[in-house]
Amino acid sequence: MSQQTLIEMKGISKSFVGNKVLNEVNFEILASEVHALLGENGAGKSTLMKILTGIYERDEGEVFVKGEPVHFQNTKESEEAGIAVIHQELNIIPYLTVMENMFLGREIKFGKTGFLNTKKMIQLTKEYLGQLGVEIDPLATAGNLSVGQQQMVEIAKALSVNAEVIVMDEPTAALTDREIERLFEVIERLREQGVGIVYISHRMEEIFKVCNRVSVLRDGEYIGTRVIGEVEYDELISMLVGRELGTLFPERDVDVGDVRLKVEGLTSDVFRDINFEVKQGEILGVAGLMGAGRSEIMQALFGYREIESGNIFIDGKKAKIKKPIDAIKSGIGFVTEDRKEEGLVLSMSVRENFTLPNLDDVSKQTVISSQKEHEFVDDMIGRFNVKTSGREQEVKSLSGGNQQKIVIGKWLGINPKILILDEPTRGVDVGAKKEIYQIMNELTAQGVSIIMISSELPEVLGMSDRILVIHEGQIGGELNRDEADQEKIMYAATGGE
Ligand SMILES: Nc1ncnc2c1ncn2[C@@H]1O[C@H](COP(=O)(O)OP(=O)(O)OP(=O)(O)O)[C@@H](O)[C@H]1O
Ligand SMILES: [Mg+2]
Repeated sequence: MSQQTLIEMKGISKSFVGNKVLNEVNFEILASEVHALLGENGAGKSTLMKILTGIYERDEGEVFVKGEPVHFQNTKESEEAGIAVIHQELNIIPYLTVMENMFLGREIKFGKTGFLNTKKMIQLTKEYLGQLGVEIDPLATAGNLSVGQQQMVEIAKALSVNAEVIVMDEPTAALTDREIERLFEVIERLREQGVGIVYISHRMEEIFKVCNRVSVLRDGEYIGTRVIGEVEYDELISMLVGRELGTLFPERDVDVGDVRLKVEGLTSDVFRDINFEVKQGEILGVAGLMGAGRSEIMQALFGYREIESGNIFIDGKKAKIKKPIDAIKSGIGFVTEDRKEEGLVLSMSVRENFTLPNLDDVSKQTVISSQKEHEFVDDMIGRFNVKTSGREQEVKSLSGGNQQKIVIGKWLGINPKILILDEPTRGVDVGAKKEIYQIMNELTAQGVSIIMISSELPEVLGMSDRILVIHEGQIGGELNRDEADQEKIMYAATGGE
């Protein structure tokens, strides 16, 4: 390869309070390449990129930009050297407008007057968003945008600084299919212009689709770099997990029981006339395009969204669910789609998050014995294989995928009859995915009914006993496990076009 080397990282090591998370890692980014950085949850991918950009100080190793040694102290310095990052945890400031977010700290002013050239900034914001093919009002409050739109704003921001290197840390985790297609087009265009892109994703198919090379980290160790097109899927997986993974989806041989949940004519402002049932021990997959109303239906079921009409029956009895606490008392657990917004308290420890839904209202009478709590938490950490330094680690310093395992695990504490999972494996590595699938299987064997919303069709097909397809706020179809395939689901999801 004769492309210019933009970035070279050599022998990078890093420890957090005695815990070594990177051990002599090498990584290189060339001009005009999309370089995938692959590794399980907690492997050290985000940390390596934070070292590159000066967010974290490295303990050992060297970094070169176009052959020159550098040692960035903060992101301002790395940005000036042409490196932009779209972080896994988005950096959008919710109460500012889109435009203010785009130009934060580098506002355009009229000459030296100090007056803001708002018109110019609005125009540029539009232009950069336009390059991504999205229409977002520059004056909209950023916090009101969908996660996908916020991500687009961050990408537009990277474009606006003319970065030579763009790091994308799980950019597609919250995007719709159409937004993903657009992003891939943008990536291709940037690549043609000579930009080097670091692409972090747990979605293997994306890596094969958009990347030129792939480097693998495992437990903070550099495993190797391969050229896409010269590496087999299975080889990459075994580099990634250090063992043969076997089949991803466990054998489903659970005997489903009686009807546990029955939903009748559920209607709100965004969906109407929703009818379905879930039996004991059954997994109901809920498919549909993003924005079809899947999450909203489940929020209503959980008392988190008002309904206009309709009834919910649990074990044949009409359930009165007005608030989430009513749902929890009726035995419903809900793993939300956005772990940062709703699922986790980031400043609390692993232990506190695991035991959260157990407390106050739910188990008022039982005094929580700390021994029981510790046993429970340790059991959860073990079952989910959570990579943590211990019960008391703050959840916000866990890797993204490990946070997701906690979101799921914490609901098991209430022994739910019905567990709603909204995109349960988003941002979760293949190994952890398999663990989550096995836990779902175990739960259903114990009689728990699971409703799983997922945008990943292989997952819907691999795990569901039955599939409900939502289209524009209505049920577009229902498929049995044996008859379902990707085409049929997409057909129903797009209203039979
Ligand atoms: N600020 C911090 N304090 C303590 N530990 C940290 C901190 N940041 C990261 N870690 C630890 O470093 C390890 C690597 O984390 P990192 O976020 O780099 O993983 P990752 O490969 O990006 O994972 P994911 O795919 O889940 O995003 C993890 O064990 C994590 O808990
Ligand atoms: Mg990460």
